[in-house]
Amino acid sequence: MAFRASAIRAERAIVYTQYGEPGQVLKTLTYKPLSTPPPGTLNLKVLLSPINPADLNTIQGVYPAKPTLNELVEGQPAVFIGGREGLAEVTQVGSGVSGYTAGDWVVFARAGSGTWASSRNVKAQEVLKLPRKDGLSQVAGATITVNPPTAYNMLNDFVTLKEGEDWVVQNGANSAVGQAVIQIAASKGLKTLNLVRARADFADLSNKLKALGATEVLTYDDLADRALTKSIVKDWTAGKGIRLGLNCVSGKDTTSMARLLGQDAYLVSYGAMSKEPLSLPTSLFFFKGLTATGFMQNRWNETHSRSDQEALISTLVDLAVDGKLKEPEHEIFTISGQDSDQVAGQKVQELMDKVTNGRYGKKVLLKFDDTH
Ligand SMILES: NC(=O)c1ccc[n+]([C@@H]2O[C@H](COP(=O)([O-])OP(=O)(O)OC[C@H]3O[C@@H](n4cnc5c(N)ncnc54)[C@H](OP(=O)(O)O)[C@@H]3O)[C@@H](O)[C@H]2O)c1
Repeated sequence: MAFRASAIRAERAIVYTQYGEPGQVLKTLTYKPLSTPPPGTLNLKVLLSPINPADLNTIQGVYPAKPTLNELVEGQPAVFIGGREGLAEVTQVGSGVSGYTAGDWVVFARAGSGTWASSRNVKAQEVLKLPRKDGLSQVAGATITVNPPTAYNMLNDFVTLKEGEDWVVQNGANSAVGQAVIQIAASKGLKTLNLVRARADFADLSNKLKALGATEVLTYDDLADRALTKSIVKDWTAGKGIRLGLNCVSGKDTTSMARLLGQDAYLVSYGAMSKEPLSLPTSLFFFKGLTATGFMQNRWNETHSRSDQEALISTLVDLAVDGKLKEPEHEIFTISGQDSDQVAGQKVQELMDKVTNGRYGKKVLLKFDDTH
């Protein structure tokens, strides 16, 4: 429903009112510009917001954390706003809020915030101020609260790994999390064995991942010959068992990956892109002392203080500014202010169909065009 019939739509959000396939249930909604922020709140202009797998699962209704309703247009039913990650600029500071000025860059700290919008009014505690913006790209800022912290924490929280010596094996290595794992591991002098799906341009992908700091790259198909893979891996790791495996895929390929782990290793699952269950040979537990566990960044945020979260984001911003954590390969999808809600909504649905069903190969970020 358009707020103004034939003007530039400056304030818009991508919304839904019922769970379902993102390519079917998402709509574009124009709303009034924000009024003066109430006490304790900030008005924000959202600069960029990524589409992450969890956003799609939330809209499908299969993600454990549920979204919250927002009254965007007076007199109309409340809506869910898509997205949970994004970079925004402070435009107005409400009374009683200290530490923020207009122009500051902030990221959303709370899951379910609803970031696929051109502007938001939020409580000050719902965002974290980025410690610096010089040298930090908008894409890096917009993608710094979900995937890089997940990678950083999984590399730190389970096993003490020795710089220059230890290896980590991961699947979905070309995902945004996977790329962050490669770079953060490389910045700590750790070696990575990276697994991806077979593809026609495997050599290109392998070179790209190696340019980020990947030590070795294989496809899941390469794991089919168990004896050969074991001997190659033994060779690469100089016989030292791999102590940490990171899984965002599950299914049978992850069973094969788990077999590459050494004595007393951890297999940490943080996603299930194949939508298949994870099955592990029982012998890995009693012969090799395997620990299979999981990691959830939202849970980490809930169980750590705001200052812990700020410290982690600050570390990641420094890595990004120092060029040690590059922004993920991406594409920016602009929602044109010239399009009606219906036309813009149609384009968003087509995009979501591609991102949900295909092998898109790049992180897609949304931008609302408000140029007149
Ligand atoms: N637990 C947490 O706290 C946490 C935090 C962040 C992310 N995650 C999870 O981590 C995963 C990756 O997220 P992301 O944002 O980094 O993703 P992304 O950049 O969108 O990449 C998706 C990855 O999944 C792979 N993939 C897609 N469908 C697959 C299938 N059927 N079988 C095997 N691989 C498949 C893709 O490989 P191709 O290139 O071959 O398509 C690509 O590597 C997701 O499951 C996400 O929910 C979890």
